Amino acid sequence: MEEFRKEVLVSSEEIEKKVKELGEEITKDYQGKELMLVGILKGAAIFMADLARNIKIPVTMDFMAVSSYGNSTKSSGVVRIIKDLDSNVEGKHILIVEDIIDTGLTLGYLTDNLKKRGASSVRICTLLDKPERRKVNVPVDYRGFVIPDEFVVGYGIDYAEKYRNLPDIFSIEESCD
Ligand code: PRP
Ligand code: MN
Ligand code: MG
Repeated sequence: MEEFRKEVLVSSEEIEKKVKELGEEITKDYQGKELMLVGILKGAAIFMADLARNIKIPVTMDFMAVSSYGNSTKSSGVVRIIKDLDSNVEGKHILIVEDIIDTGLTLGYLTDNLKKRGASSVRICTLLDKPERRKVNVPVDYRGFVIPDEFVVGYGIDYAEKYRNLPDIFSIEESCD
């Protein structure tokens, strides 16, 4: 990451603690219900894996890939399904698992889309929330951390497809030197 100035915004220890708490809350709330976790690729892959292991009721897991950004830090405003769910959502309680909500365009589109398919309920769990950047209002049911309007990488989140494997979340800035 030599081309960036970087600092740890959320450490792996803080993430681990928070994911455990979210898992406990979700476990309580979905007791006796058929819960389907829907992870949004690729950013949510790592959060999804950790969160699922902290939910202590049976769940099913599926994934969607929706593109809004491409290899840029700027939103194009275009939402496109790259990979759809394998399973039917009718009558299921869906919890969408996201790494970050920025403008809300991705989740605004997805929640509508999944409700139209006949899901019993559609809720959102996001690790990070950047409310200052919101363009579309989306109800967040489970939220890990509210963060300032800074560009972040790590724990699934990329910059031009890199840095997803970093265990901590960093804020980055192009260095001037
Ligand atoms: C990022 C992030 C969220 C979305 C949030 O995904 O993982 O899915 O953008 O932005 P929004 O609230 O403005 O819609 P991205 O489209 O970069 O794909 P990726 O997960 O494969 O990195
Ligand atoms: Mn994403
Ligand atoms: Mg991305």
